[in-house]
Amino acid sequence: MSENTAVQGPEFAVLLGMPVVIRSEAMRQVMQLVQRVAQTTASVLITGESGAGKELIARALHQFSLRCNMPWVDVNCGALPEHLMESELFGYEKGAFSGADKMKQGLFDLAHMGTLFLDEIGELDPRMQVKLLRVLDGVPYFRLGGVKKVSVDARIITATNQNLEEGIRAGKFRSDLFHRLSQLHIHVPPLRERHEDIGALAEFFLHQNDPGMRFSPDALEALGRHGWPGNVRELRNTVMRAAIVASGNEIRVSDLPAGIHNAPPLKPSMSPTSLDEMERQMIMQVLGQTGGHHAKAAQVLGISRRTLSRKLKTYGVGDACEALTAC
Ligand SMILES: Nc1ncnc2c1ncn2[C@@H]1O[C@H](COP(=O)(O)OP(=O)(O)O)[C@@H](O)[C@H]1O
Ligand SMILES: [Mg+2]
Repeated sequence: MSENTAVQGPEFAVLLGMPVVIRSEAMRQVMQLVQRVAQTTASVLITGESGAGKELIARALHQFSLRCNMPWVDVNCGALPEHLMESELFGYEKGAFSGADKMKQGLFDLAHMGTLFLDEIGELDPRMQVKLLRVLDGVPYFRLGGVKKVSVDARIITATNQNLEEGIRAGKFRSDLFHRLSQLHIHVPPLRERHEDIGALAEFFLHQNDPGMRFSPDALEALGRHGWPGNVRELRNTVMRAAIVASGNEIRVSDLPAGIHNAPPLKPSMSPTSLDEMERQMIMQVLGQTGGHHAKAAQVLGISRRTLSRKLKTYGVGDACEALTAC
């Protein structure tokens, strides 16, 4: 097998130097799709819940592509306010504004011949959506304050945990941009739908943290029963915390957070009725786990604080204390 398809046995692959666990049939299928589409030039939209592994898949697409030795550039579209996002993506010329004492290349420029990963694309504001669409259509752009046109050849990969089709219906996301970005679509299933990965990932994270430690059988079973609303990110954080809390070299069920070792299996009657409701429950649960701490919750969920606040507002939940009582 070539370096680019460095799948070592059935469970592990190394992507940009990072080992990843792929045990479930669902993830194997995702990885097969990744290997098939990586070498095309099509833009790829990756969807899935926060923490499910979208960024990992984006990196895999780059690593398996013909551009693997060219730059990999990533940016979180939810992390910056509009005006900074523009200068970040497109760069600026010296003197474009006070403080611009030298030219700065934009991320598009930096990703030339390589891959540009736009994470949380659903957060991109309407004006930047128009600008992005033009660049993707091959129209050269100006750096802020610039007079010279810049043309770039960057492969675009985007990811979102939002339903962009709903965003289009709500008038928040442009449908032309959506179609341009989703020439190919890869969905990363949530961890609860790939049960086999839970134990494998838990063992992997524990081994990475401390090769001398192990799980007791009932601890592993409790991990398998949990719904993992924060997906792989939540599992990794849980394992790290349990490894600190455990007194010996075995993680027992009592070393796991109460929400995990007491959690009854999700009964059908308790299942959320819609995707929105599922998201609301996930956010409330993570807020509960972080003691109502917004920044930590946003980090676990893999969304910006701004997105978290906006979502809480739509639930009629104002601040952390209210969020906890609403749980
Ligand atoms: N299959 C996997 N094997 C190992 N680590 C994983 C796997 N999937 C996700 N992770 C880890 O879980 C965390 C969240 O994954 P990430 O790709 O950032 O999720 P998302 O972009 O969907 O929010 C990262 O630290 C990532 O390395
Ligand atoms: Mg992410």
